[in-house]
Amino acid sequence: MESFYIVGGNKLEGEVEIDPAKNSLLPILAGCILVDDEILLENVPKYSDVIAMCKILEHLGGKTKFVSGKYKNEDLLVDCRDIVYSDVPNELACSVRSSIFTLGSILGRKKIAKVSYPGGCDIGLRPIDIHIAGLKQLGCKVVDKNGYIYADGSKRRAEDVMLSFSSVGATENIMMFASVCKGQTRIFNPAREPEIVDLQNFLNKCGAKISGAGSNMIVIDGVPKLHGCCYHAISDRIEAGTFLIAGAMVGKEIVLKNASPKDNQALIAKLLKTTCKIKEENDRIIIKGSPRPQSFGEIETAVYPGFPTDLQAPMCSLASVCDGYSLIIENLFEARLKHIGELLKMGCDIRCKNGVCIVKGRDKIYGADVITTDLRGGACLVLAGLYAEGYTTLNNIELIDRGYFKLEEKLTALGGEIKRIKCEKKVYNCY
Ligand code: EPZ
Repeated sequence: MESFYIVGGNKLEGEVEIDPAKNSLLPILAGCILVDDEILLENVPKYSDVIAMCKILEHLGGKTKFVSGKYKNEDLLVDCRDIVYSDVPNELACSVRSSIFTLGSILGRKKIAKVSYPGGCDIGLRPIDIHIAGLKQLGCKVVDKNGYIYADGSKRRAEDVMLSFSSVGATENIMMFASVCKGQTRIFNPAREPEIVDLQNFLNKCGAKISGAGSNMIVIDGVPKLHGCCYHAISDRIEAGTFLIAGAMVGKEIVLKNASPKDNQALIAKLLKTTCKIKEENDRIIIKGSPRPQSFGEIETAVYPGFPTDLQAPMCSLASVCDGYSLIIENLFEARLKHIGELLKMGCDIRCKNGVCIVKGRDKIYGADVITTDLRGGACLVLAGLYAEGYTTLNNIELIDRGYFKLEEKLTALGGEIKRIKCEKKVYNCY
């Protein structure tokens, strides 16, 4: 078990390099299963979710190897030429949500698949009915039994697929399967996140014929085979957003390098209301914190380009220390407010009911012994600890390592006082 020990009160300043996107690399790794060739993914951070996906590829018969490259992180060599199996057992699938993304690519490559129900952050029920409905519309036979999805894609056909909700994962699953289905598949009401466009670009670099990602209709002309490529995923807009929120809370001036301002417009619009200053450049964002942030008013999470649900938790920390009241509404995940209980231990003034939170900002909050409830809830508590008076111990930080790589090193380089400590005692979640 590991924890963060954080001493609050320091202002952050300097440069931070934003890593490639976890939520691009995970579907791209699933997409590698379709490719009977070698693929080089450049500058790959060792997110624990990436490591979990590598284990799944290796279970299937693939090979993955980190190799030195020309970027800050190593490159990842992926070779799925010897994929022989088509099953993902529970012990591998239960650690990540993105294990379900392999369903479409295993079906595309092997025609049959047996994939256990996925894991992922405990932020709601997270069903997979939209994934299954889409694959059935493309001619797959799918049986959901004993916690496993058994699928037969031998009678696949290209079709129009209408998603009942713009699910990110379901869009990605269907894109991957349809990319090797003969004929033209069109996906209506798809997710429009930048990571969907990134997956399209990756698959097209492997020889697929996909267009329209990022719009309200994706068109896929199936090809018989995909080939290898070298690919660099887009910048992680959620990591960038986390550092921007840190800048609004405890920043002097922070320069985000390798960031993509166009992917963070919904957040930037809200942060400007707190009276911080933000300068957008081509691949950099510069934020100057204000002496006392004002309330940003309200945020309501939505599918892209709406306000991202993945930044709702960090915004709860910011709201807790702004001057004034803020309203935060979580629409996507019914159990994505567990971090509020931990913020209350730090003296925050928050009332929540049915996904709606009213936050009364305070100029003082206090360090406490708190626990990471999920990936982004953990990031929220790191930010609160950096602001709080006194020290905070944040337990269960393995959940943070799923989607932030060397977070404590980046924050320390900016002047934050945070270090990783090993703790013997098992921390019991009391919820
Ligand atoms: C992806 O999860 C991201 N994960 C999540 O990021 C992100 O929060 C989410 O998209 C929304 O943007 C990865 O890309 C690995 P969804 P995903 O399918 O695909 C419901 C993080 O912190 N739904 O768009 O699981 C679902 O319950 C993680 O980095 C169904 O009902 O999200 C939710 O309410 C957390 N049936 C909503 O749709 C389905 O078949 C959005 O889910 C699928 C989804």
